[in-house]
Amino acid sequence: MAFEIVVLVSGFGSNLQALIDAAKAHPDQYRIKAVICNRPQAYALERARQANIPYFTICAAAGQTRESYDQQLNQQLETLQPDLIVMAGFMRILSAGFTEKWQHKLINIHPSLLPKYPGLNTHQRALDARDAIHGISIHYVNAEVDGGPVIAQAQLEIKSQDSAETLAQRIHELEHQLLPAVVLAIATKKIHYNLAHHQVTFLGDEIQAPLSLENLYRAKSTD
Ligand code: GRF
Repeated sequence: MAFEIVVLVSGFGSNLQALIDAAKAHPDQYRIKAVICNRPQAYALERARQANIPYFTICAAAGQTRESYDQQLNQQLETLQPDLIVMAGFMRILSAGFTEKWQHKLINIHPSLLPKYPGLNTHQRALDARDAIHGISIHYVNAEVDGGPVIAQAQLEIKSQDSAETLAQRIHELEHQLLPAVVLAIATKKIHYNLAHHQVTFLGDEIQAPLSLENLYRAKSTD
């Protein structure tokens, strides 16, 4: 049976689309069991509908606590029993109880080279700091915002004419390659999270530095 993932989204869903396209190309390796979204108007839901993927909208009620929202989310995930939960632009902070329970199956994509710039406005912050390099990280999720062991990163050079908008566009292009590659590597057991030691392993060895797209492609070509 194919490895089953659930994708959590809040917005445009271009990363969801990259995962949908990769799942179509590798139907024997993983399938998207469902999409869960916290915003009913998100375009990501339209992408799920067009791909015939079941989707669920869980909106936070006014005044609802984080813990209560996460309980609802948890219930839905308990029903779905995914092998992996992918936060692909899911704009909510998760409670410690939730992340503790799912941490070995929960990954997030973040638009910066963590540990630099957790949180929001990462492109502008990289520009303001006059960074030469910017990038993206995919990491397992723990209770710390954009914390948790980093699995893979991809980077780009910031050009003098870059703005937050051009960076966002170039960053998205990197994300659309790296996220499906990481999901495929987890689905095929090349990447594993050793929960007891909070370590990520790649092909059996603990990773000493975030994996690159080249590492992942090379491992795939040896299948
Ligand atoms: C991505 O840049 C991701 O890194 C961030 O939110 C954005 C989501 O974009 N967490 P999309 O909805 O996948 O187009």
